Amino acid sequence: MALSPSEPTEPPLHVAIIMDGNGRWAKRRGLPRTLGHRAGVEALKRTVAAAPELGIRSLTVFGFSTENWRRPAAEVAELMALPKRYFESDLARLERDGVRVRAVGRREGLSPELRAMLIQAEARTAHNDAFQLQIAFNYGGQADIVDAARKLAQDVAEGRARPEDISEATFTRYLSTADFPPPDLVIRPSGEQRLSNFLLWESAYSELVFQNVLWPDYDREHLAAALAEFAKRERRFGGAVSDDVLAAG
Ligand code: IPE
Ligand code: IPE
Ligand code: MG
Repeated sequence: MALSPSEPTEPPLHVAIIMDGNGRWAKRRGLPRTLGHRAGVEALKRTVAAAPELGIRSLTVFGFSTENWRRPAAEVAELMALPKRYFESDLARLERDGVRVRAVGRREGLSPELRAMLIQAEARTAHNDAFQLQIAFNYGGQADIVDAARKLAQDVAEGRARPEDISEATFTRYLSTADFPPPDLVIRPSGEQRLSNFLLWESAYSELVFQNVLWPDYDREHLAAALAEFAKRERRFGGAVSDDVLAAG
């Protein structure tokens, strides 16, 4: 995507959040991790409500990574139940509020019930365009790139694509996130400063903001603070600093 250095970058159109810190939140309260994950769903609801009011057009949230299968079975089961918990209470509201829901990540490995629920959430909101909510579930940046490469290789093998035509733009279309623009801002609460396999390709030029708050405590003020930090950044996309471009006239 060609973006000139002077292109306006605020407000961020697409914000992506790594919803991290549920376990620590529960531990600090002497609660089981399960309750941390449930509290995390409440933080998601607050964030989805606040995002459009703060000028965000699209939001991607990381709910379960391809590496999270390494957790104890009981915790995986609780995490797998979260989309149901969220959609049962909120899908009607999302539909009414003009939110379009998209689920990205591998569908293999998910229960038929969960798959059906994701398909239903997408179908019921497909006509909406006021706000986009992308849910990364059983998602891994590397897995998504591998899956895209496999589909592309298949297309080449069957004559639908030619190696010489493969570009960044054509490759992007094979990713499960193809319907969304790249994130302008990636936020990670919880104090960890890593991407943990989130949107590896898409975040090439994203601004990164790390916040010292555990996800279940996340609210509108934290999101506003991340946006304020984003507004101070100068995005260059590999180009020159805008003042220097003017000076070079
Ligand atoms: C985020 O919280 C939920 C998922 C990763 C699915 P964690 O469960 O990772 O919480 P911490 O990082 O252990 O505190
Ligand atoms: C990233 O958090 C995945 C999600 C929030 C869904 P993790 O808690 O799994 O990441 P690591 O293990 O600390 O890197
Ligand atoms: Mg974590």
